[in-house]
Amino acid sequence: MRLPADKVTKLRTFYQGRTVCVTGGAGFIGGHLCDALLSMGAEIRVIDDLSNSSLEHLSGLIELEPDRVKFIHASVLDDDALKAAMVGAQTVFHLAALGSVPRSVEEPQRTWSVNATGTLRVLEAARAAKALRVVFAASSSAYGDQPELPKVESMPVQPLSPYAASKLAGEQLLAVWSKCYGLSTASLRYFNIFGPRQSADSAYAAVVAAFAKALFAGEAPTVFGDGSQSRDFTFVSNAVLATLLAGSAPTRLTGQVMNIGTGRRVTVAELATVMARQAGTPHVHPVMRPARAGDVMHSLADISLAKELIGYEPVATLEDGLAETMEWYKRVFAGT
Ligand SMILES: NC(=O)c1ccc[n+]([C@@H]2O[C@H](COP(=O)([O-])OP(=O)(O)OC[C@H]3O[C@@H](n4cnc5c(N)ncnc54)[C@H](O)[C@@H]3O)[C@@H](O)[C@H]2O)c1
Repeated sequence: MRLPADKVTKLRTFYQGRTVCVTGGAGFIGGHLCDALLSMGAEIRVIDDLSNSSLEHLSGLIELEPDRVKFIHASVLDDDALKAAMVGAQTVFHLAALGSVPRSVEEPQRTWSVNATGTLRVLEAARAAKALRVVFAASSSAYGDQPELPKVESMPVQPLSPYAASKLAGEQLLAVWSKCYGLSTASLRYFNIFGPRQSADSAYAAVVAAFAKALFAGEAPTVFGDGSQSRDFTFVSNAVLATLLAGSAPTRLTGQVMNIGTGRRVTVAELATVMARQAGTPHVHPVMRPARAGDVMHSLADISLAKELIGYEPVATLEDGLAETMEWYKRVFAGT
């Protein structure tokens, strides 16, 4: 994953020499964010309990830059560990979470504890460390199943799962910590992020990862529902760019919520067709299973607010992102 050179130059002026804390930095999006921050000269503190990730990628970064990357193996529910992770942090990117809708339906209390209470603890630690800004990984699941498209931040929210409810609570906490304590905060509602290194290993894997795993195993991908549900699938470089922009924007950010997507949607059935073609198995068609509780039908981001507030515009298309992602899964699953 690479960001365009002109964007990197601008961001580097801000992040060079800056100490940042990334919660969930061993995870999929967090790992890409750390790559970008490291290439821009930042000092990185990662706190992650590795409950949904491994140290595989991060240890490479630590080996490369032992003085600029520190890893704290702990939960965001551990106040002492958070305190250690935030020493000197000027910017905090809070990505640690249990991130799956179906898992949240199975484990509502754990989801609430990590995603909502964990966010409160991160905010308190950031406040104690006198951090200047906290950026939160919120979710498009906040919109639920309302028919209007595209989703605009001014629409009422309609969480359909414990995951969506916990992420909405996080947004509210960020806004309140701005109002009560003057901490600069922003919440980014990511729309279906995909890319290399996204975990395909659990029953809760995101759709692109799960499809890739099935296709490279010579199996039909499973679609929950009839395949006509649509999503604004967003390549991870877009999410990383938006996150870095939100961390560095000179705009006064006081808990604003912004959509981060591409402004284009495709159906899950179309996605399966494109991916089957890219995997070299165009004859493989998905198997349809009943829709899952908590899943929404359609999703599409209006990204004008993020453009206005932080200057975000997508830098990678779905096709380019998918090609890069499939190359990566091919190396992992097909061993080529
Ligand atoms: N991937 C998406 O499409 C998407 C969409 C909307 C929002 N988000 C949000 O973006 C963030 C990153 O998502 P991701 O896709 O990289 O998921 P991920 O699971 O790869 O990353 C989350 C990381 O948080 C860590 N973690 C979990 N519980 C923790 C705890 N108690 N303490 C410390 N670390 C903990 C995990 O080990 C993992 O490394 C999450 O907050 C997620 O809710 C992701």
